[in-house]
Amino acid sequence: MSDLQWIQSQWPEAVLPACPIQRLLKGQKALVTGASSGIGKAVAIALGHAGADVVINYVTGEDKAQAVADEIMRCGSKAYIHKADVSKEDQVQDMFRAMIAKWGTIDILVNNAGLQKDAPFDQMTLDQWNLVLSVNLTGQFLCAREAVREFKRRGVRKEVSCAAGKIICISSVHEVIPWAGHVNYAASKGGVMLMMKSIAQEVAPYRIRVNSIAPGAVRTPINMEAWDTPEAYHDLLKLIPYKRIGEPEDIGQAAVWLASDHSDYVHGVTLFVDGGMTLYPGFETGG
Ligand code: BGC
Repeated sequence: MSDLQWIQSQWPEAVLPACPIQRLLKGQKALVTGASSGIGKAVAIALGHAGADVVINYVTGEDKAQAVADEIMRCGSKAYIHKADVSKEDQVQDMFRAMIAKWGTIDILVNNAGLQKDAPFDQMTLDQWNLVLSVNLTGQFLCAREAVREFKRRGVRKEVSCAAGKIICISSVHEVIPWAGHVNYAASKGGVMLMMKSIAQEVAPYRIRVNSIAPGAVRTPINMEAWDTPEAYHDLLKLIPYKRIGEPEDIGQAAVWLASDHSDYVHGVTLFVDGGMTLYPGFETGG
C-alpha cells in the first residue's frame, strides 16, 4: 500500500485533488465582482484558464468587461458579463438570480469590487466615507450572503469539488497596516477581515470555505501614482522587501489555488500576497 493509499484508508473522508493542475477548476461556476480591470480582471482570467466558467461583474467599462469574457471563452470556458453595483441589494440579488437561472448554481465567489476615495482625515466627507464602506464592505456582505444561501441550498457537488462552495474576499495589506490619509479604505478592509472570519466560523460545518487574499502594492489603475514614475516606484520599493511591485497575475494564481481543492483544509485565513510588505520593512536596518 502506498503512503497515499494508507492515509486515505485512515481517513476515508479526506478528499485529495482529482483534477489536473491545468484545469483545476473544471466544471465550477465562478462569479468575480469588479472584474473589468485590475486584480478582478486577472483573477477572472486565471479562474477561466483553470477551467471555471466565469461571470464578469462590472459597474462601468462594458467593453473592457467583454474583453475579459472573450479571453476566457477563447480558452474554452464559458463567460458572460453582468452589470451590477455590489452595494445595491436588489442589483446583487438580480445578478445571483440570473447566474443561477443561466448556469444552475455558483461554486466560487470572488468578492473583489473595491475603490478608494482618499482624503486627509479632517477633510474626509461623509460621502467619501459612505461610498468606500458601501462598496468595499457592504458589497462583500451582500454578495457573500447570496453565495452562502445558494451553497447551503445545494450542498456539495462531489463531481466538481469536495467543498459546498468557496468565497474569496479580496482584502488588502491595509486590513492590518494602518493607512493615514485613507482611513475609510483601511476601516473597510479591517471590516472585511473580521467579516470573513466570522462568516467562516459560522458556515464551516456546511463545508463552505471562506478566506481572504490581501494584496500589497499591485500594478493596477487604483494606485497608479505609486508606480508610474521612476521616483514613485523607487519610493514604493522601500515598502516591499521582495523589491518588485506585484502584478495582477500574482493575485490570480493565489485565487486559483484558494478556490481549488488543493487548499481544502485552508479556512478562515488571510493569505498575504504582498512581497513582504507586512514584514515591517522599516525594521530592516533599525530597531
Ligand atoms: C491599495 C493600493 C496600495 C496598496 C499598498 C492596496 O490595498 O489599494 O493603493 O498601493 O494597498 O499600500
